[in-house]
Amino acid sequence: MSERLIGRIEDRSARVVVVGQGYVGLPVAMRASEVGFGVVGFELDRKRVAALRAGTSFVEDVDDDRLRAALDRGYTVTDDAADLVGFDAAVISVPTPLRDGSPDLSFVESATRVLAGALAPGALVILESTTYPGTTEELVRPILEESGLVAGTDFWLGYSPERIDPGNPRWSFENTPKVVSGIDAKSCAAVEAFYGALVDKVVAVGSTAEGELVKLLENTFRHVNIALVNELAMFARDLGVDIWSAIDAASTKPFGYMRFTPGPGVGGHCLPIDPSYLSWRVRRQSGHPFRFVELANDVNEHMPDYVVTRIAALLNRHRRAVNGTKILLLGLAYKAGTSDWRESPSITVADRLAALGATVTAADPYVSTAGGPTPPCAMVPFGAEALADADLTVLLVDHPEFDAATICEHAALVFDTKGVLRSSSFSGEVL
Ligand SMILES: NC(=O)c1ccc[n+]([C@@H]2O[C@H](COP(=O)([O-])OP(=O)(O)OC[C@H]3O[C@@H](n4cnc5c(N)ncnc54)[C@H](O)[C@@H]3O)[C@@H](O)[C@H]2O)c1
Repeated sequence: MSERLIGRIEDRSARVVVVGQGYVGLPVAMRASEVGFGVVGFELDRKRVAALRAGTSFVEDVDDDRLRAALDRGYTVTDDAADLVGFDAAVISVPTPLRDGSPDLSFVESATRVLAGALAPGALVILESTTYPGTTEELVRPILEESGLVAGTDFWLGYSPERIDPGNPRWSFENTPKVVSGIDAKSCAAVEAFYGALVDKVVAVGSTAEGELVKLLENTFRHVNIALVNELAMFARDLGVDIWSAIDAASTKPFGYMRFTPGPGVGGHCLPIDPSYLSWRVRRQSGHPFRFVELANDVNEHMPDYVVTRIAALLNRHRRAVNGTKILLLGLAYKAGTSDWRESPSITVADRLAALGATVTAADPYVSTAGGPTPPCAMVPFGAEALADADLTVLLVDHPEFDAATICEHAALVFDTKGVLRSSSFSGEVL
């Protein structure tokens, strides 16, 4: 029966539903529309529904022109579950946060329930949300089977981790290989056919649990390596060694080394959260702590405090207290080139400095104050005026717009957590 679905995928007559129209779901919906599928985006946030219907995208990888072209082709956004009935393929891309340190799969559960109500024989459901190994089989499958249909017989079920890197100009949704999996061979073939229509290359793995683990392996790898260089940055300073030069030199090794650089901590929806999904599952299944993850959490969570300590010491050397000092933060986003400031270490730095009595402002050309959540401090445009107005500038994100020459010329004192000013002449310090 999956042959019929694969035929509908191949001739593009399949009706595709994408549940959750955020950073992950919207690009999937756009691509599915571009390759010729009829696409319905299901989204519960009314503001997002209204914005998308009006052709306004809040995801930087999807510009308004691309969204409007999709709307012209028939892409629709809805919060009405009745609009999903009769879908051929559905992708679940809803949040998977932590609640009190444990996985919160309530969004996945409610999204799956909506799809169970719209499920028809021969359809395919794919989970894309990042989660611990076992979720597709143990959580998603039973909810879908409450429909009376049986997975692997009446409908197909799989998992495919998302690998988007917001703001990355080289690797997009289309040209990044996509890992796919199914609960059985037929489901895997259906998932493979679906993503084969959307991306250049798919990589099939043996089970949905393996697919789920792939994503957590990738993110835990980054989390641990960032923690390694962060901890080393703190010790290298004690040793009187320039960590940045050492990293540059190590990066010339053409094999067996991958470059990671220190910074003010980790943020976004992935690194502060995903590895904990894995350590939670490991501890629950085997009773053992996943020590790498726990250590990386510890080091990376400490970095904003370390940055504030270094700022206080720098000001002290200039006979100033944090209290009463005007501090300009460059970058609120969790990384360069993105507007996403969820879980960003910049927020913790801003809060800590404000609690110590500093007057904190921030400049971030990517973060908009219109519509979304309110940033933790006043926002100012990046430029000579904001830099000259501050007693101290703290560079937290290496957005390309933060021009080194402008900073060096106009900032009185700088603390650079990203090594951007290393080869410049300026008053201040690098992390
Ligand atoms: N953002 C990234 O860079 C990234 C990368 C890889 C994987 N992921 C993973 O993808 C998943 C989604 O992340 P995101 O960044 O797109 O989140 P997001 O918050 O940007 O988008 C999720 C959307 O789902 C909506 N939603 C929640 N419950 C819903 C429901 N029951 N029905 C319909 N809509 C619902 C929310 O309103 C929101 O708009 C998470 O598991 C995340 O870990 C994210």
